[in-house]
Amino acid sequence: MKIALIGYGKMGKAIEGFALQRNHSIVAKVDANHPAEILKIKEADVAIEFSQPDAVIENLKACFDAEVPVVCGTTGWLERKNEITTYCKDHNGTFLYASNFSLGVNLFFRLNEILASMMNPYETYDVAIDEIHHTQKKDAPSGTAITLAEGILKEIDRKKNWVKGDNSNQSELAIHSFREDPAPGTHTVKYTSAIDDIEIKHTAHSRDGFAMGALLVAEWIRDKKGVLHMGDFLKL
Ligand SMILES: NC(=O)c1ccc[n+]([C@@H]2O[C@H](COP(=O)([O-])OP(=O)(O)OC[C@H]3O[C@@H](n4cnc5c(N)ncnc54)[C@H](O)[C@@H]3O)[C@@H](O)[C@H]2O)c1
Repeated sequence: MKIALIGYGKMGKAIEGFALQRNHSIVAKVDANHPAEILKIKEADVAIEFSQPDAVIENLKACFDAEVPVVCGTTGWLERKNEITTYCKDHNGTFLYASNFSLGVNLFFRLNEILASMMNPYETYDVAIDEIHHTQKKDAPSGTAITLAEGILKEIDRKKNWVKGDNSNQSELAIHSFREDPAPGTHTVKYTSAIDDIEIKHTAHSRDGFAMGALLVAEWIRDKKGVLHMGDFLKL
């Protein structure tokens, strides 16, 4: 399979390593220093986009214009997700965004929803999310923490929206972001009461789980159409 890597930083390089091991070829490596590489994406069977929040929209539109299926892991741009979904559909494109491509985190997302539905009747418990990432991470809270928050908001009636930092009232779900090195990503969902606490926690040990997951999704998506989700791929 011919792959275009859009964003050739820590994630792009990790994906390249696995792609070469699996006998794929890399036909474009687009980054801030090599923007003209974007012209080569039309040679690719699939594009994998891990860049940065201020670059992702233009990159995704370039993939749809070039009729190349695209897997996107860049976080911090979700306020424009509807625009991208519409653009993809209008161009009969293929698109999958995931805030986190690791199998373990996607199992954790499911566990989070099940736990939230169990905790919904027990109003003495408050719930909050903590996330820890390396200091170079550009967005906060993490895309993974936002997905966890969305899972909780779907199930816990007393929580209406998430907020960055401490909550000012009980209807808000607090997400606390911590930045320290090295930390590929740790997420904890905490239910606390005066009597006891319940916590679930996922700790990534490296970027390998994200990189391999994105590559497996790229192999799967190349002959699909439309806007797809990790749930379609993992059948969780
Ligand atoms: N979804 C997941 O599973 C997952 C996992 C890890 C990281 N991420 C996200 O992926 C993104 C990249 O992470 P990273 O650790 O590789 O970051 P990084 O800073 O190491 O790399 C970012 C790359 O984007 C490039 N870039 C800048 N402008 C660009 C442009 N206009 N077009 C193309 N490339 C451009 C930079 O030159 C750099 O190579 C971040 O948003 C991060 O939060 C997602």
